[in-house]
Amino acid sequence: MSQKRQILFISGTPGVGKSTICKELEKFNFVHLDVGKLVKDKKLYLKYDEKTDSFVVSMKRMKKSVEKIIRKTKVNMTVDWIHSYELASLVRSTKRIIVLRCEPLILYKRTLKKYGVRKTKENVLSEFLNQISHEAHVMFRSNVIEIDTSNMSAEKIALLIVEDKYKPGEKIDWMKKYLKERSKLNRLFKIVER
Ligand SMILES: Nc1ncnc2c1ncn2[C@@H]1O[C@H](COP(=O)(O)OP(=O)(O)O)[C@@H](O)[C@H]1O
Ligand SMILES: [Mg+2]
Repeated sequence: MSQKRQILFISGTPGVGKSTICKELEKFNFVHLDVGKLVKDKKLYLKYDEKTDSFVVSMKRMKKSVEKIIRKTKVNMTVDWIHSYELASLVRSTKRIIVLRCEPLILYKRTLKKYGVRKTKENVLSEFLNQISHEAHVMFRSNVIEIDTSNMSAEKIALLIVEDKYKPGEKIDWMKKYLKERSKLNRLFKIVER
């Protein structure tokens, strides 16, 4: 019996490791659809917003383009994108979404060079507040699989994903964790104050 091809939606705060894990999953024959890159390459944006240093995506065109690529691609795929309402129907049809997580202090170290202080602080706070995962749970309820990438290599995580070792249900809550580890909370406050 032929197995249905898999489409994995990989979401999470910038810097948690979406692209890195999608690259690892290529070794298992998952084609990597980097939606951010697609938006830039195909100019699927309305304008560039200097204030936020990012493109304002044309959601309608982006959705159409992603749908078309998913339809045309017949093999396993990862869709690498911070989930949004526009792609919700596509995510629901696959019945699951992976939200990668990273402990805020580790995320800070990982991404400071790449994003600079201001953006990194924004991302670290967003991750600390569980923003992306909370939104995913609101939209996709029991279909959300959270994976902590803080202390595990992308290679190992990709293997565990392929082996279907991660199950939906677990919610990672950094705020709760840091309230029990005050020294980490204090270090986070220092970073945010900077
Ligand atoms: N599991 C991991 N362990 C350690 N560092 C990682 C891991 N995953 C990603 N990184 C590093 O974190 C940074 C951000 O990763 P990236 O894949 O670009 O994140 P995203 O695509 O979610 O923005 C990169 O420098 C990458 O090498
Ligand atoms: Mg990326």
